[in-house]
Amino acid sequence: MTHTVATALAALEAHRLDVGHRDIADLFREDPARFGKFSARLDDLTFDYSKHRVTEATLAHLLALARAAKLEERRDALFAGEHVNNTEDRAAMHMALRNLAGRPLRVDGVDVMPDVEAERAKVQAFARAVREGAIRGATGAPFSDIVNIGIGGSDLGPAMAARALSPFVRKGLRAHFISNVDGADIADTLAGLDLARTLFIVSSKTFTTQETMANAASARARVAEALGEKAVGDHFAAVSTKLDLVAKFGIRPDRVFGFRDWVGGRYSMWGPIGTALAIAIGPEGFDDFLRGGQDVDTHFREAPLQDNIPVLMALLGVWYRNVWGFAAHAVIPYDQRLARFPAYLQQLDMESNGKSVSRSGAPLRIATAPVIWGEPGTNGQHAFFQMLHQGTDVIPVDFLVAGEPVEADARHHALLVANCFAQSEALMLGRSRAEVEKILAAQGLSKPAIEALAPHKVFPGNRPSSTLLYKALTPRALGRLIALYEHKVFAQSVIWDINAFDQWGVELGKELCTRLAPAVEDGTRPLAGLDPATAGLVAARRALLAG
Ligand code: F6P
Repeated sequence: MTHTVATALAALEAHRLDVGHRDIADLFREDPARFGKFSARLDDLTFDYSKHRVTEATLAHLLALARAAKLEERRDALFAGEHVNNTEDRAAMHMALRNLAGRPLRVDGVDVMPDVEAERAKVQAFARAVREGAIRGATGAPFSDIVNIGIGGSDLGPAMAARALSPFVRKGLRAHFISNVDGADIADTLAGLDLARTLFIVSSKTFTTQETMANAASARARVAEALGEKAVGDHFAAVSTKLDLVAKFGIRPDRVFGFRDWVGGRYSMWGPIGTALAIAIGPEGFDDFLRGGQDVDTHFREAPLQDNIPVLMALLGVWYRNVWGFAAHAVIPYDQRLARFPAYLQQLDMESNGKSVSRSGAPLRIATAPVIWGEPGTNGQHAFFQMLHQGTDVIPVDFLVAGEPVEADARHHALLVANCFAQSEALMLGRSRAEVEKILAAQGLSKPAIEALAPHKVFPGNRPSSTLLYKALTPRALGRLIALYEHKVFAQSVIWDINAFDQWGVELGKELCTRLAPAVEDGTRPLAGLDPATAGLVAARRALLAG
């Protein structure tokens, strides 16, 4: 951490002592126009951050922190194609995948757009041909089911988006996603599918990922068994940066879509990794989705820091994580179709910023990525909201909600929106002991009964939340939401001085699994050489199987 960042953080900590005792509800009482002052817009999207423990002075301190961390310079370096991913010596130029404006974007001095556009055109032509039945299975039947086989960044984005955009999926087409090495995943997904009408897309940046390769091999065997070995070429496509490995797997070259290593896995759904989504919602729908991402790139580059939504999201996160010490952050979409959005964000945020050393490898003296979690509302209200309202931990929440539904069911939607707004209101206002006592007295409870019950009915309130309100969950709106969070994560990584684009923390477990697998598979192998804790588990499982 540089001296200037440390100074800006120290100033924020001192500032907390000034504002810490002030309730958000009081801030609203003092300034009823607060909503207008503490909200930002991007076309039809509103980011309401008025229900936070912040004043104008807090914002000034947070913006000073952003400047001390040289956020604008680092953002410009990202867009200039500098090797911001320093441990892998690469740029992070996923923005090129959604650059529809044709503006040159350079990596290592070369404009990558011609390459990106050529590959995008290939994917779109393929998507169109599959949708129109010009590309068919080996028996001549058109494809009705598209199965993406991938994991992490090669699964979560497209899977989340295909669900989010289900009303835009062409009738008669279904997108499925197999990710887990647990054989239950492929078994359950393929049960009931007609393989003659099923197209598999093997998606893997590295084309070595154990889970994906195991699932792809099983799917290949299933197709060969059902339709004959010669049918395999007609039922598989692949997306990867490792075209040589794809060729070895035996996928026809005209069904292989490539991308470059300057696209990180968790940032890759905008390109060929989105092929299953492009088939499902169509090339035009996919372009609209890209347009949403592009809208946010322009906003992130051009909006002044104080109106810049991803920057504000990032700074509020830093305020709570580093100054208040809150360790978790909930994302609650009041949008059933965004059910997988929190899971998608978990990879985006926690794989990017779950680090404890700086870009130069020095131990960080500051807390980084909080735990990101969430589930759709209203369901969450009947499950974990108890803890959000009355638990001992304060968990800032992002509420996501559409102004109108994609389907015209206004009554359901009004109830949904009312629930969403009411929850953020309840978190902010709480209910004091005096109010509770008054309510219980009005219900006719005796004094001792009120004494006994009142503490359980008190809500502390002053619990912060943001609301992201968009018109409807269209492809463009979804593209905007995703890109907002991507740049939020990047902005936080700048403040924490983290490389947001590597993920070394996933390696050790993979390595140990490769070493361990033979002893798990073959019950006769000696356990000597395994660490005693693991040997204990392997032996216990062997005993289970023997018994
Ligand atoms: O294990 C983590 C990870 O490397 C992610 O970063 C990545 O998105 C995922 O695995 C899948 O990798 P691949 O696309 O190379 O199969």
